[in-house]
Amino acid sequence: MRILRLAEEARAFSRSARAGGETVALVPTMGYLHEGHLSLVRLARQRASRVLATIFVNPLQFGPQEDLSRYPRDFERDRDLLEREGVDALFAPEVAEMYPSGACTRVLVDGPLTEGLCGARRPGHFAGVATVVAKLFALSEPDVAVFGQKDAQQAAVIRRMTRDLNLPVEIVVAPIVREADGLAMSSRNVYLSPDERSQAVVLRRALISAETTVGAGERRTPVLLEIVRREIASAPLARLDYAEIVDAETLVPAERVSSPSLLALAAYFGSTRLIDNTLLQPDGEV
Ligand code: PAF
Repeated sequence: MRILRLAEEARAFSRSARAGGETVALVPTMGYLHEGHLSLVRLARQRASRVLATIFVNPLQFGPQEDLSRYPRDFERDRDLLEREGVDALFAPEVAEMYPSGACTRVLVDGPLTEGLCGARRPGHFAGVATVVAKLFALSEPDVAVFGQKDAQQAAVIRRMTRDLNLPVEIVVAPIVREADGLAMSSRNVYLSPDERSQAVVLRRALISAETTVGAGERRTPVLLEIVRREIASAPLARLDYAEIVDAETLVPAERVSSPSLLALAAYFGSTRLIDNTLLQPDGEV
């Protein structure tokens, strides 16, 4: 696996692969990899003949009160994991390579896609994500890029940005990967104390309660959200940040589950904020 530090090296890798008749799949990450990331890599390998993974903890998507400086990092371990998965090249630039002095351009996806859910709590976050992803697309010119459904709002924002800017990249979204007890895998899970870790599974329980209730015929959002809130309140260490049901594509709040809808949750366990989600289908299928 080649390690690339410069934008020009990532561009050259991609261009030479494509000149040789290969296709390129991009897997952008912020490192501290877990099985969820590796599932993206495996999907990327199915979708293209060459895989370019990236590790870059993007300062633009962290707010001033957020965890940029303590975001977990372990480059050697990440490199070994990616190598074992058969990744062809790893692009791991320094901040100054991605944002040379004077850089002042932001990609802003406007409207309900970024106004609600995490966008309402993390001002500027999705502009930071859209900017870095647009840059990664521009410099690596991938055929396909793979993201995780766990960050459902991020995936919707990137899909919209790609369409709006006519970027010739196919966006593939991989299912959420969970621990044995149902907790969605996240690099932030390492921050949880043992008690917080065992209670964090309440997020999955709340999602399942809502899925089951929809399966039994309930479609009213306020009723479903009340069930979710009650379930989360049963875990004393959980502090709900938000629970919302929105249209799965536009992320506009839904009064009823009458089209595929996203039930998205965020909750704090101590100072660690976790997110999770599920798709609710109007026919009640999970
Ligand atoms: O999902 C992430 O890890 C990040 O938001 C991404 C897409 C790599 C952009 O920094």
